[in-house]
Amino acid sequence: MTLDELREKVKNCKNCPLCDTRINAVFGSGNEHAEIMFVGEAPGRNEDETGEPFVGAAGRMLNDFLTASGLSREEVFIGNIVKCRPPQNRDPLPAEEERCIGYLLEQIRIIDPKIIVCLGRIAAKQLIDRDFQVTKQHGEVFRRNGRLIMATFHPAALLRNPAYKPATMDDFCLLYDIAYNRHFEVDIP
Ligand code: URA
Repeated sequence: MTLDELREKVKNCKNCPLCDTRINAVFGSGNEHAEIMFVGEAPGRNEDETGEPFVGAAGRMLNDFLTASGLSREEVFIGNIVKCRPPQNRDPLPAEEERCIGYLLEQIRIIDPKIIVCLGRIAAKQLIDRDFQVTKQHGEVFRRNGRLIMATFHPAALLRNPAYKPATMDDFCLLYDIAYNRHFEVDIP
């Protein structure tokens, strides 16, 4: 399947009740051949309205970190665990994640990034470890299904807790180094 075929499937998806309340399914956007793929949680109000990921205040925070670490939105791919907005921005339900995760796994297979970056707890628990703790394990690089994967703070968490910003910057610098082969000494379990 191509990414455009998958995009069409997601646009018309009725796998879970979130399809009844969404305005737009948010497929994700960016470079289809990205070395770096960011994975957030689920669309919020702005994303639901525009169909684009991370376009609200959290998105502006993400943009700032991309720019500061020498990256651009155009060169990375940004997606989410769940493609449709949960009402009132609640956490996605386990059943919603289960119904949706296949789309993300297919996106990863097609894009074939060198490294995946989980933005926050929901993505890290789903993709790295059920017991993942972002405050303790952010910036650690793991291997899952033969692919590098790490997590950092969710941009919305940085809006609430600016004290996490320096650690997030360190994570982005590490990410850049790994994605573009500037880092030679990571110890990857
Ligand atoms: N938060 C997310 O996790 N994803 C988005 O796309 C927007 C906000």
